[in-house]
Amino acid sequence: MAITEELSALRDDTLAAVAAADTTAALDEVRVRVLGKAGTLTGYLRSMGSVPKEERAAVGKAVNEARVAVEEALAARKAVLDAAELEAAIDAAAVDVTLPGRVQQRGTRHLINGIIDEISEIFLGLGYSVAEGPEVETDYYNFEALNAPADHPSRSMQDTFYVVDRSGDEAAVRGESDVLLRTQTSGVQVHAMEDQELPIYVIAPGKVYRRDVADPSHLPQFHQIEGLVVDEGITFGDLKGTLDYVCKQIFGPERKTRFRAHYFPFTEPSAEVDVSCGICHGEGCRMCKGTGWLEILGCGMVDPNVLEMSGIDPERYSGFAFGMGVERIACLKYNVPDLRMLLEGDMRFLRQF
Ligand code: DAH
Repeated sequence: MAITEELSALRDDTLAAVAAADTTAALDEVRVRVLGKAGTLTGYLRSMGSVPKEERAAVGKAVNEARVAVEEALAARKAVLDAAELEAAIDAAAVDVTLPGRVQQRGTRHLINGIIDEISEIFLGLGYSVAEGPEVETDYYNFEALNAPADHPSRSMQDTFYVVDRSGDEAAVRGESDVLLRTQTSGVQVHAMEDQELPIYVIAPGKVYRRDVADPSHLPQFHQIEGLVVDEGITFGDLKGTLDYVCKQIFGPERKTRFRAHYFPFTEPSAEVDVSCGICHGEGCRMCKGTGWLEILGCGMVDPNVLEMSGIDPERYSGFAFGMGVERIACLKYNVPDLRMLLEGDMRFLRQF
């Protein structure tokens, strides 16, 4: 067969192979087979030297024509296949907008945070501001500056988590460390008296810690809201009026309060406040253990010693303080039977609030 015939056969075969290639990869294989370094058509171009002189012009022309025809066919087919492959990729990545959406589970604000916000709002409305103090506290702020010196019996009432330093400090292990997890928010009173200008009208919500085993009425970590007022001419009447108003705001206007004499080291006189039972309205029931009253907070007039230790003149200023347990208020308000339910993270329970 004459070379020109071989060439036209090669060209026709190649054009057929180009037309049959259905992916860009298959097309590239055809290109390499024919036009690559060791390609069939390249072989003809390379062997032009051995073609007899008289045929060289005709063969050269035929080789060139074949090359041009193959290159054009390759380019045209590649454009078609590229476009098809791009379209397929776009289709594969497409979002089906007709599918139903996936519902994101939304959390809710925890009941305890809700009550802290609610009570804070009541006090903000009375002109108080919110103060904060550290949860890892020193003995001075948690006990000493609150009139409870080292041998004071009130310290044994509150079992304390002491913070042991990394060296395993022996004194800390024995419970004689100066650093502890605060057992009450009352220490924020001392920070406020040291840091703020008088008069002081603050509340301090926050976490407190005690060495208790969790049971229906105890948690090793819970929340309190502390309150402190220091101003000229503050009386027990101000304390009663304020707390009675706040209790009615929290529990409802029909609820009554009563103040029972009590003892706290940092207040004198001191009282516990009860609110009338919302179930039996004072008749006596299981909720209030037959008394008609529910204990909700401790309070009193700030002991002059406490004012003096924080550099405030007790001859000129007087004040009152109070502290309430947030979990307890939550349980009384919503009849939660077991404090541990607040920590279990069961959404069926938490979503109710
Ligand atoms: N800190 C007390 C406690 O944890 C509660 C308390 C009582 C706070 C009387 C006060 C107060 O500020 O005046 O039991």
